[in-house]
Amino acid sequence: MKLRARTIRFATLLAASLLAAPVGVIAKASPERTVSPRYDPAHRVFRLDAGDVTYAMGVNTDGILQTIYWGARLPAADPLGPAVPAPERSSFDPAGALTPQEYAGWGGAMTATPALKIRLDDGNRDVVLRYDSYRVDGEHLSILLRDAQAGVAVTLDYTADAATGIIGRSAHIENAGKQALTIDAAASATWNLPRADDYSLRYLTGTWAGEWHLQTRAITPGATVLESRRGSTGDENNPWFAIGRGGEWNEEHGDVWFGALAWSGSWSIRVDEDILGQVRVVGGYNPFDFAYRLKPGETLDTPVFYAGYTRDGIGEASRLLHRFERDRILPGGARAALRPVLYNSWEATEFKVDEPGQERLAEKAAALGVERFVVDDGWFGARDNDHAGLGDWVVNRRKFPNGLKPLIDKVHGLGMSFGLWVEPEMVNRDSDLYRAHPDWVLNFPGRERSEGRHQLVLNLAREDVKAHLLEVLDRLLSENDIQFLKWDYNRNWSEPGWPQMSPDEQQKVYVAYVRNLYDILRQLRARHPKVEIESCSGGGARVDLGIMALTDEVWPSDNTDPSDRLSIQDGFTYAYAPATMMAWVTGSPNWVNNRVSSLDFRFLSSMQGGLGIGANLLDWTPAEEATARGYVAEYKKIRATVQRGSLYRLLSPQERAPWSATESVADDGAQAVLFAFQRQGEEARPFPTLRLRGLDVKARYRFRVMHGKVAPGTPDVASGAYWMQRGIDLVMKGDLQAAGVVFEREGTASHQGVTR
Ligand code: GLA
Repeated sequence: MKLRARTIRFATLLAASLLAAPVGVIAKASPERTVSPRYDPAHRVFRLDAGDVTYAMGVNTDGILQTIYWGARLPAADPLGPAVPAPERSSFDPAGALTPQEYAGWGGAMTATPALKIRLDDGNRDVVLRYDSYRVDGEHLSILLRDAQAGVAVTLDYTADAATGIIGRSAHIENAGKQALTIDAAASATWNLPRADDYSLRYLTGTWAGEWHLQTRAITPGATVLESRRGSTGDENNPWFAIGRGGEWNEEHGDVWFGALAWSGSWSIRVDEDILGQVRVVGGYNPFDFAYRLKPGETLDTPVFYAGYTRDGIGEASRLLHRFERDRILPGGARAALRPVLYNSWEATEFKVDEPGQERLAEKAAALGVERFVVDDGWFGARDNDHAGLGDWVVNRRKFPNGLKPLIDKVHGLGMSFGLWVEPEMVNRDSDLYRAHPDWVLNFPGRERSEGRHQLVLNLAREDVKAHLLEVLDRLLSENDIQFLKWDYNRNWSEPGWPQMSPDEQQKVYVAYVRNLYDILRQLRARHPKVEIESCSGGGARVDLGIMALTDEVWPSDNTDPSDRLSIQDGFTYAYAPATMMAWVTGSPNWVNNRVSSLDFRFLSSMQGGLGIGANLLDWTPAEEATARGYVAEYKKIRATVQRGSLYRLLSPQERAPWSATESVADDGAQAVLFAFQRQGEEARPFPTLRLRGLDVKARYRFRVMHGKVAPGTPDVASGAYWMQRGIDLVMKGDLQAAGVVFEREGTASHQGVTR
């Protein structure tokens, strides 16, 4: 939302009189996806009611906008407000620091983490943001805060999703004064939790080939900073958090506040607790090395920070996020195609791709029921290893003498769509692009240019670089009948200089790069609407709601070991939907850890997400091919449930636990799919009884086993109540055992997936 400070007053009057529904009327949880925010002028309170959530904030007597309530949905008649500023507690604890401000400038007596910190050219750094006016525009609520003397205007934008209660917040910062200023820190939002001193925080950490570890720590007075300083999302932390009360919150129970930042550049989410138990979550651009200069009239928009609440535990928090991502974030929304079964030859051939080799693999893949064939790294430029070629997106004629067309035609003729790997943001020194434009990379003049995997980062903030990439990729997609791009990104930033800009404008790179990346993706999608894109970053180092809005799927990890994958995939699902999570069946022993596993274990592990195959199919025996064909066919019958159903994490594989189990339930309750794994069998212990979740209590479900063994005496058919209360026992003996069981509601045709 882009609101000009000048026009908002007038709009406010209109909005207040025409659009604000009287307090006391709660918008019914409408079948529509949006809700209208409401304003109570008597108490100066704004209220968002969506899903099972109420969020309220008010203007206090100091003119400061402060959070009043965020939690379970409340009856409309409940009084919320007026907002009362915290009293000064001592000379060291002024109201400015204690009041839970919605979006605080650093100024006045503020000592807590501000959302915004600004330096004016005249040396003033004091900004106190006070309420000015508001506007409701459909589902958007915009609230204008100002410091008129400093010449700073901030429009806070709010949306609320009726289905999930997830609120989106962002800020639009304007230099409304007469002198230039520099923004040192700009958050998207501050989320103030109800005052309590028993919170704990869950967050995700990782590293290459070991992404998505779930961490838990108590929130105590002090700060926890989750962040990336890498220029992209990164995998060290992911921009997601969940906060629960006490030691009691688990998959099923407990108050949980959770959020995810839609940004693929350097970011930070800072969780502060003060000694009085006030918890604030401040997230947005990473203030580290941040400086964004605004001349009079110029503006900066922050990313959107989404957050939600549930009283039904972390499992429900994940399901709300999954639904929100599927329906509101991903391109195509609720109507998006299901993920096709994919083949990718990276682990089989690495850089040794050529026309005959890829054609042989394509024939094998098609015979297994694969629907999309993807040529990975090595098809372009002088790319025989990772030392050369990046940047030169022209087909290597030694490997593909007649271009890609013969292979693409072959793949299409086999009934599969065709995909290609690209890494557009990078360049090798040994490339024609770098030889022609050594100034196109991030760098500080005269300083070393650090390499990662022998590559440098192109500065997408430069308009010429952006235009070049757009042109090259547009040409690639126009000249070749391509349905899918795997968009990779294999290193962090270093020496992030932008020497073409004046020194005080250079740090805009943190914003401009990512915005241009998004713009390239947006324009490519608009010009080639049938092309799907996967976000990959040497695995899962660029997964966030920002990139997800422009891509159809993500690659969670280069680690394809099916046992390691159980934890990786489990961690991923805390924040992100299985609908986006690609998982390949690859060779055994696995290249990461030499672990040997059965094809059944590998398939069942990968079937928890979007199924892919990445093994060398030329090595497979006829028996292995038959097994694979069976699983691919089976997957097509359950993928709608796996990808778009509700996920229940029944047994956690985190912290190297021996067991893992998940269940996915179709939205209409007609099918449930159970995956269970035993990494290690110890002391002849029985596998835990699995009590299903989310079934229709009264309906009757018949099960069929995809693989594995159920305990003797298990009935063929029983009620949803039975499977949820009594549960099912599986027989697992030994290491690396797996089972897959499908429950079909009697009298219902089973799900058939649709793909493009
Ligand atoms: C990254 C990706 C891999 C593969 C290679 C190719 O590591 O994560 O899947 O595409 O690059 O170089």
